[in-house]
Amino acid sequence: MPLPFKVIGSEKLYRMIDIFYSYVAEDERMNHLFPDDLSETAYKQKLFQTQFLGGPNLYIEEYGHPMLKMRHMPFRITPVARDAWLENMEKAMDDVELDAEMKDYLLKRYTMTANAMVNSD
Ligand code: HEM
Repeated sequence: MPLPFKVIGSEKLYRMIDIFYSYVAEDERMNHLFPDDLSETAYKQKLFQTQFLGGPNLYIEEYGHPMLKMRHMPFRITPVARDAWLENMEKAMDDVELDAEMKDYLLKRYTMTANAMVNSD
């Protein structure tokens, strides 16, 4: 896959992330974990996804190494929250009409990362 960040484009990727957090805000399986104002969370996710998908290292420049597993340790992340994360991201992908191949690729990458974030039954 040629750099997914280039293929998707930042406009669509960032729109997808904003939509994702609008679903997160409404989802009782996971919204208790997040601050009421999700704008900073969404901003960090945009920087992270940019580099995760092969774009410039924007997250590292501002916040240092992602160490995602460690940054998620303060939160109780169950398999239910993981499924909610992935479902909300899938809905956001559909909303921005990501093509099927890209959606499949992203879902696989997100699933691997999301599995690694689970730290509680
Ligand atoms: C498995 C389900 C997941 C849950 C329940 C979850 C939950 C959270 C929470 C509660 C925060 C802190 C929000 C804040 O205080 O601003 C956070 C931050 C973050 N999450 Fe997740 N997350 C999950 C999976 C993922 C995945 C799969 C990724 C990446 C593909 C990811 C990337 C990030 C990033 C980049 C941050 C910002 C870290 C920082 O700079 O503080 N998360 N997540």
